[in-house]
Amino acid sequence: MSSIAKTLLLYKTLPGDNPRYDMELLLCELLECQPAYLRTWPETELTVEQLETLHEWLARRIDGEPVAHLIGRQAFWTLDLLVSPDTLIPRQDTEVLVERALALSLPIGTHVLDLGTGTGAIALSLATEKPDWKVFGCDFKASVVELAQKNADKYQLSKVEFFQSDWFEKAAGHTFDLIVSNPPYIAPKDKHLYEGDLCFEANSALVAEDKGLADIRHIVSRAPAYLNDSGWLVLEHGYDQAEAVKRLLIENGFSAVEGCQDLGGNDRISLGQYIR
Ligand SMILES: C[S@@+](CC[C@H](N)C(=O)[O-])C[C@H]1O[C@@H](n2cnc3c(N)ncnc32)[C@H](O)[C@@H]1O
Repeated sequence: MSSIAKTLLLYKTLPGDNPRYDMELLLCELLECQPAYLRTWPETELTVEQLETLHEWLARRIDGEPVAHLIGRQAFWTLDLLVSPDTLIPRQDTEVLVERALALSLPIGTHVLDLGTGTGAIALSLATEKPDWKVFGCDFKASVVELAQKNADKYQLSKVEFFQSDWFEKAAGHTFDLIVSNPPYIAPKDKHLYEGDLCFEANSALVAEDKGLADIRHIVSRAPAYLNDSGWLVLEHGYDQAEAVKRLLIENGFSAVEGCQDLGGNDRISLGQYIR
């Protein structure tokens, strides 16, 4: 037997930037409680079964596995999203993209397309904030589309539609007021791929050819055909890609091109408007 207070101290064995927070997440998952419970009832004893599960999780965490994969979910925006190793664990920095998209001047009943939707993080956040918008999200992996749909069902967001598509392939004949995407943008063999959570996430969610720009280049060049007049394209990209992405936007006829910074102060979002 071991108490919550004693078990919490095991955070000192964990890797990562915020091991104490990770330990709290694991304990809350195990005890099906809120963080406040850990502080209010520190003397609560864990059962033998709970301790066994916890030690298994700790061993996997020490091997580098992300906490989100251990508990199967991740907080994003106002949502608690199911995750899977088939796609990216949603990052807090992507909330900046959501914020920027929500700040645009867009018509009532805006139609949105989220390319490479993953867990549905961006699509579902937009749908939560704008109940009159019609939000579509696509991903090329069937398992990922299923995951996004499960997240939509969890929040009963019936105006969101997910479909399987290689970028715009299955969107032919449709146009949107807003296209958003956090596509793969890490160069093959980039050293970050061998560090931290990225080692456990699908390469298909992370890596793009052409120094990480291949998918962004594809999306920017095709987007005008899928945007309504004065529609916007908002993209997340790598910290060192802002200049290249802005150049691509301008070369492909976008105006009002600008960028914004992520929570760490890096230029990680670029956007432009397409006026016919
Ligand atoms: C960086 S992840 C972003 C996931 C999610 N939008 C987010 O921000 O958390 C990129 C996503 O693009 C998807 N993807 C990669 N190539 C694709 C393609 N050719 N067509 C559609 N989706 C693709 C991956 O499966 C992955 O889910």
